[in-house]
Amino acid sequence: MKNEFSSSTVGWLAGALLAATLLGCSKPPPAPPKAPPTPEEKSKNTISKTAFGTLPDGTAVDLFTMVNANGMEVRATNYGGIITALLVPDSTGKTTDVVLGLKSFDDYAKNPPYFGAIIGRYGNRIAKGQFKIDDQTYKLPKNDGPNTLHGGLRGFDKVVWQAEPFEKEDSVGVIFTYTSKDGEEGFPGNLQTRVTYTLTDKNELSFDYHATTDKPTVVNLTQHSYFNLAGDGNGDVLGHEVTIYANEYTPVNKLLIPTGKIVSVTDTPFDFRNKVKLGDRVNADNEQIKFGKGIDHNFVLKKKQPGLTLAARVSEPTTRRVMEVHTTEPGVQFYTGNFLDDTLAAKAGKPYAKHSGFCLETQHYPDSPNQSEFPSTVLRPGEEYNSKTVYTFSVR
Ligand code: BGC
Repeated sequence: MKNEFSSSTVGWLAGALLAATLLGCSKPPPAPPKAPPTPEEKSKNTISKTAFGTLPDGTAVDLFTMVNANGMEVRATNYGGIITALLVPDSTGKTTDVVLGLKSFDDYAKNPPYFGAIIGRYGNRIAKGQFKIDDQTYKLPKNDGPNTLHGGLRGFDKVVWQAEPFEKEDSVGVIFTYTSKDGEEGFPGNLQTRVTYTLTDKNELSFDYHATTDKPTVVNLTQHSYFNLAGDGNGDVLGHEVTIYANEYTPVNKLLIPTGKIVSVTDTPFDFRNKVKLGDRVNADNEQIKFGKGIDHNFVLKKKQPGLTLAARVSEPTTRRVMEVHTTEPGVQFYTGNFLDDTLAAKAGKPYAKHSGFCLETQHYPDSPNQSEFPSTVLRPGEEYNSKTVYTFSVR
């Protein structure tokens, strides 16, 4: 039964009170004077700096801790721009570290799997450690059999970057800068490099890459974080569900150098256009999967226009965490941690076994300096290298 009496009585009382207020019969108490917002109230995104370690030559290295308004936290050091922790809230607001990492600074100084690092000057492989620009041949150190991987022996993951932290109303971050000298690791040209890490209060972690050179060179920068959306140290990632917005991929030879062909993913284990459980693909009976010991391949992204494009979405069914990757790059290397082999001092305590994490390294295609059919990675004086990638975290 409807209680008409009480609702109409309440309505009448409210009307009378409103009328009395409008007629000035009862004055509301004056509002207390408002104190100007403190800097903390203005920006709930904060950053702090602590000492992280010292290199053998005495150079001190820092660790920056960025926290956004939702409690999402990123820890990154100016040694290689390495992200050492990434704490992402679940649906209840509880945060868990979702990136793989090592125990101490000394472990990061070696960091064989490139955990969390900025990769450059050339991410991924350059065949036979050499390439030509304008008929001039450049030779690079070979650190992956006969090939060069991730910028050589001392790539951008193993250098100390200048770091300038910033705090804004809706974001927080660090601007990392580094000048790679002409001839460093065999690459021509002084390369002025800037990589900006930004954590927004929308739970986005973005990377803005910028570079200029004074001689023609090649550039391919990326970020090498390994993710486990169930939480670091929580087993393998084979239950993760993956979508990659790519119609094609670049098959490789047994040394993981692209053959030069751009091949449709249709009817291959590389068709991730509809959500796929990773475990259903990493052991597929397929020559390409055998070459990579799992998936370690460049996907050719469907790009309709310049600007950011959705490259991939990964979700983890037990925690319902979701990570989306948007990028301006034409490709993404999907690497399923195939070379992790229980040997590292994992920060989570338990050693990292094969497939403990996955990487989505946005980039130009591997070995582009030697592959005329691939989009060019040459940067010339007067030009600007600009690239952006955003990892967005949410809960389904
Ligand atoms: C490469 C792998 C390599 C790994 C190093 C990835 O970017 O694609 O082949 O083993 O980096 O940790």
